[in-house]
Amino acid sequence: MDFKLTEEQLMIQQAARDFAQTELLPGVIERDEHSKFPADAVKKMGELGFLGMMVDPKYGGAGLDSVSYVLAMEEIAKVDASAAVVMSVNNSLVCAGMEKYCSEEQKQKYLVPLASGEVIGAFCLSEPEAGSDATSQKTTAVDMGDHYLLNGTKNWITNGSTASTYLVIAHTHPEKGHKGINAFIVEKGWPGFEIGLKEKKMGIRGSDTHSLMFTDVKVPKENRIGEDGFGFAFAMNVLNGGRIGIASQALGIAQGAYELSLKYAKERKAFKTEIINHQAIAFKLADMAVNISAARLLCMKAASEKDNGEDISISGAMAKLFASQTAMDTTIEAVQIHGGNGYVSEYHVERMMRDAKITQIYEGTSEIQKIVISRGIAK
Ligand code: CAA
Ligand code: FAD
Repeated sequence: MDFKLTEEQLMIQQAARDFAQTELLPGVIERDEHSKFPADAVKKMGELGFLGMMVDPKYGGAGLDSVSYVLAMEEIAKVDASAAVVMSVNNSLVCAGMEKYCSEEQKQKYLVPLASGEVIGAFCLSEPEAGSDATSQKTTAVDMGDHYLLNGTKNWITNGSTASTYLVIAHTHPEKGHKGINAFIVEKGWPGFEIGLKEKKMGIRGSDTHSLMFTDVKVPKENRIGEDGFGFAFAMNVLNGGRIGIASQALGIAQGAYELSLKYAKERKAFKTEIINHQAIAFKLADMAVNISAARLLCMKAASEKDNGEDISISGAMAKLFASQTAMDTTIEAVQIHGGNGYVSEYHVERMMRDAKITQIYEGTSEIQKIVISRGIAK
């Protein structure tokens, strides 16, 4: 077992670090305050290949491995968790799902612009009454011969108004349960497709979260992904990889909060000494360092298993479960270490604490990760 990164992986890590410092750090507080989407930065991320990192260059991607993806996600999330979720959805839900399961025609038409960052995509599974219980969704797509008629509402969709291409999961045969679900490629602007108001969120406020309404939207037959009834398996398999992306986002948030806390603890004085010399503070930093290292190892293990073509349902869920808890614990303590300064925006850690919370909720809550892990290990 070799824990050393390759030259290429180190290069990607450095490029992402530089990008985050120069393009994301200035303005991150303002974007959070005004819930402003990082449009210019996302465009540049596309140009740098960060939006289709693992996609084959023949489809416009950067052709990198999943370990490089984890490294880049961590660096971006360390500075701006909102930009990181845009990157995660496009890479590991939309592009990865399309590259693995779409037809050649679908890839040429939709994947190439998505992987090259020309446009961004969204993944639409959750509904007002079906989040964790994804099979109980109400959106339907009725087979009309040469097209499907799509009706329903999707909730909480990341990149909701900024995306051009939407992967929408819907029931085609509700009586068949999860075997009667299909996934479709839907374009923005098709008649009957409306985008709801932007959500006002606790964290990741720079990201763009909307509900989407579909009323008799005509979806051409050729836009169904895979065989009839493949939609739930599509969603589950895509989410297994997606969870590595969110785990890396959580890892980045934790690492960012830890670095700021370590620096602050070495500078801030109380009772005639730097606060790091108080054991209560030093132990918090020690706990952070241990948990972050463990989270990183889980992310890397899942990513490396993905690169080896192994089943990552358990390892992806473990990485997300642990890294998201680490992000939450670390950011809460980061605020504590910063004292009163931790409570105001200019020191960043209060934003990180708000951003961390979502990593325990989306792409399967922590409770759902435990269901996935426990069912997996019981098999
Ligand atoms: N990988 C592959 N297949 C899986 C799977 C996994 N992780 N989990 C379940 N399946 C398969 C099962 O093997 C089964 O298939 P067969 O019938 O062919 O054997 C089928 O799915 C149904 O499985 P269950 O009976 O276990 O299904 P269930 O209804 O009890 O629930 C669940 C399964 C794991 C809870 C699932 O509903 C789930 O993952 N829910 C969470 C949904 C989620 O993560 N949403 C995220 C939305 S995207 C998002 O959030 C993006 C963002 O924020 C940025
Ligand atoms: P519920 O499913 O109602 O869960 C409520 C509580 O009950 C949770 O604590 C949950 O863990 C618990 N619970 C539910 N079932 C069980 C059980 N069987 N055992 C134990 N506990 C259980 N979805 C998308 O499809 N695409 C996106 O791009 C997307 N982006 C998002 C962005 C944001 C900012 C947010 C907030 C959400 C996003 N989501 C997206 C939706 C997200 O995936 C769901 O919110 C999440 O899966 C939880 O579903 P829910 O909100 O309906 O909660």
